[in-house]
Amino acid sequence: MTLLKIENLCYSFDGNKDVLRNISLEINKGEKIAVIGNNGAGKSTFFLCLNGVLKAEGYIALNGEKILDKRGFEKLRKATGIVFQDADSQIIASTVKAEVAFGVMNLNIEKSEVIKRTENAMEKMCIKSLSSRPPHYLSGGEKRRVVIADIIAMKPEIYIFDEPAASLDTENVGVLERVLESISNEGKTILMSTHDMDFALKWADRVIVFSHGEIIADDITEKIFLNDELLKKAGLKKPTIYQIMDVFGYTETMPKNIEDLKVILKEKFNEKQRNISC
Ligand SMILES: Nc1ncnc2c1ncn2[C@@H]1O[C@H](COP(=O)(O)OP(=O)(O)OP(=O)(O)O)[C@@H](O)[C@H]1O
Ligand SMILES: [Mg+2]
Repeated sequence: MTLLKIENLCYSFDGNKDVLRNISLEINKGEKIAVIGNNGAGKSTFFLCLNGVLKAEGYIALNGEKILDKRGFEKLRKATGIVFQDADSQIIASTVKAEVAFGVMNLNIEKSEVIKRTENAMEKMCIKSLSSRPPHYLSGGEKRRVVIADIIAMKPEIYIFDEPAASLDTENVGVLERVLESISNEGKTILMSTHDMDFALKWADRVIVFSHGEIIADDITEKIFLNDELLKKAGLKKPTIYQIMDVFGYTETMPKNIEDLKVILKEKFNEKQRNISC
């Protein structure tokens, strides 16, 4: 089911040079989409246009309904929850708890539900102990967890994460991974920008590649990361697992993570041992 349909989206900050040029794509329910591309390629600008923070030229339809006016943009904003790349520009309240509750309170839902969702989101992002702290004085990784909790509490149809793992330590990347999994298990759609190709390979079903304001590829994850020419053109690194597989050769099912890789390498090793003993 198509949730968002975008056609010929263009955006310019200064009215001169287009930062986004003729972006067209469809986003379907339940997809896990990684958005990759070099610094300045247009990923964050694209996300802000998707969420209606920036008003782009072109066609956007949500659930088949074209976004035309203020009411349409309100619906778009409610359906798409965005975690900004810069956590500071998202934070507005004076305590962590008030910050996480802020967006939910604007959804016109029962107070008890606001409290429940705020508590749940703080629990999921492991920030309960920070509850009464002023968000602006938190560490980078703590702030990131707060702004992710903001969006989790709002339960949008489409989650947009702009480099959510930036400044998170290993333990909190694990927390993020579990949260992403539980959002996907609810059937929700996730778009995420990342510079971590290993993470994109492991997590995404579909990858969209931006370069100089355009989408230069949009395909299933495996096809994107097997396309050396494309990666070179976009200036992107091949995931480590695929670099290792280059040495051992392509297999019918390419590994998505270290565990899959270990199984394949073990099989290859055993095969070699069998051949030697024959
Ligand atoms: N507020 C702004 N005013 C003017 N130009 C901007 C503004 N925000 C972004 N740009 C420019 O738009 C282009 C796209 O920037 P954008 O932030 O979308 O890139 P990105 O792909 O998210 O990069 P990164 O990987 O560094 O986050 C860049 O050339 C950037 O300098
Ligand atoms: Mg960005």
